Amino acid sequence: MEANSGEPKIELGLEGVYISKSSICKVDGVNGKLYYRGYPIEALAKNSSFEETCYLLLNGHLPTLDQFEEFNSKLKAERELPEFIVDMIRELVNKADTMDVARCAISALSAYDKEAYDDSDDANLRKSIKLIAKTASIVATIGRLMMGKEPLKPDISLNHSANFMYMLNGEKPNADKSKMLDLMLILHAEHSSNASTFSTMVTGSTLADMYAAVTSGIGTLKGPLHGGADQAALKMMKNIGNPDNTEKYIEEALAGKKRIMGFGHRVYKTYDPRAKIIKAELLEIQGNSVGDVKNYTTIALRAEKMMIEKLGNTKGIWPNVDFFSGPVYTYIGIPMELFTPLFAVSRMPGWCAHMMEYWQNNRLLRPLEYYVGNIDLEYTPIRYRK
Ligand SMILES: CC(C)(COP(=O)(O)OP(=O)(O)OC[C@H]1O[C@@H](n2cnc3c(N)ncnc32)[C@H](O)[C@@H]1OP(=O)(O)O)[C@@H](O)C(=O)NCCC(=O)NCCS
Repeated sequence: MEANSGEPKIELGLEGVYISKSSICKVDGVNGKLYYRGYPIEALAKNSSFEETCYLLLNGHLPTLDQFEEFNSKLKAERELPEFIVDMIRELVNKADTMDVARCAISALSAYDKEAYDDSDDANLRKSIKLIAKTASIVATIGRLMMGKEPLKPDISLNHSANFMYMLNGEKPNADKSKMLDLMLILHAEHSSNASTFSTMVTGSTLADMYAAVTSGIGTLKGPLHGGADQAALKMMKNIGNPDNTEKYIEEALAGKKRIMGFGHRVYKTYDPRAKIIKAELLEIQGNSVGDVKNYTTIALRAEKMMIEKLGNTKGIWPNVDFFSGPVYTYIGIPMELFTPLFAVSRMPGWCAHMMEYWQNNRLLRPLEYYVGNIDLEYTPIRYRK
């Protein structure tokens, strides 16, 4: 027996559905523009730092010098990890995927926060700072242990990106590379109601705490249709191997109806403005790199040209933030297994800012499903079933 008739309109993938008002981020998918709290991404990429961008996202305005220094010293003071978190990473690393290790370790931070279940605005801001600082230390520690090396304590003389690289590689990074990582963190810091921010908000909307909410976000970020695309794109470049194979590989992949990771976007139907900024970095790298990085940059640029010719103007499928990231991260010295956890390092301020904003006017996020199964079936006891 059919349950219902008169089917409602279903927006598959919630495409085009607005869930709230927000003043954090505007994504203009038609014109390829992105703004954090009203500031164009290009201006932040050129002039800001990740720490300042975090302040902006969390507080809604750029800081004065005093405000910045206070915020920055709070971030630095929160970098160190509880010993148990390091032991937990040691136990899990190389057994589970790096994203799963990051998700478990970040989730476990609630046990070390006396304010974990305090839902005041001040406590949530302090939790956000803690999460931003400690997520970077967690991901660097995962990388360190993954490479069979002992974890390092943070160095508070370094900024956020340089400290991340120091905790990962054991040496103070070259200024150009840490600046490049800082830029990547800014570009990935926020992107309105993307899938991981939405799932963060769904969990937070039940009035679960900040740690529970961002743990949902990390789980969602993992998939290759979202944050996992940067790793998948670099894997493709590795598979292509020789730049001269690029066009044949793409041709065959498209003929086989495969998706090229790092292309296409639910909102941008034009060139993702973040990808344009990363491409400019790639062009600089290409000139002074050798070996794998040189190959990846060449493959990426050849694949981009071909994809735009084939799908850009016709289907609105353009490079997104994840396509050029892999070669840039490889140049900086970040192993592929850390690309997606690093995305969580950068997106943490966006998740926290959305949660704090949404809680100001919370409403349980609970959509509907249109039931198409049977109803009123007769229950047969197991001994009579065939
Ligand atoms: C991001 C993404 C999920 C958005 O998808 P969406 O809005 O749901 O778009 P659809 O999946 O409906 O795709 C629309 C069409 O474009 C094609 N398409 C979308 N992305 C494509 C890609 N990366 N490579 C090849 N074709 C692609 C689809 O096959 C579909 O073609 P069809 O109309 O002939 O069936 C999708 O573009 C994708 O899978 N990209 C690769 C993963 C990625 O880079 N994710 C990171 C996003 S920042």
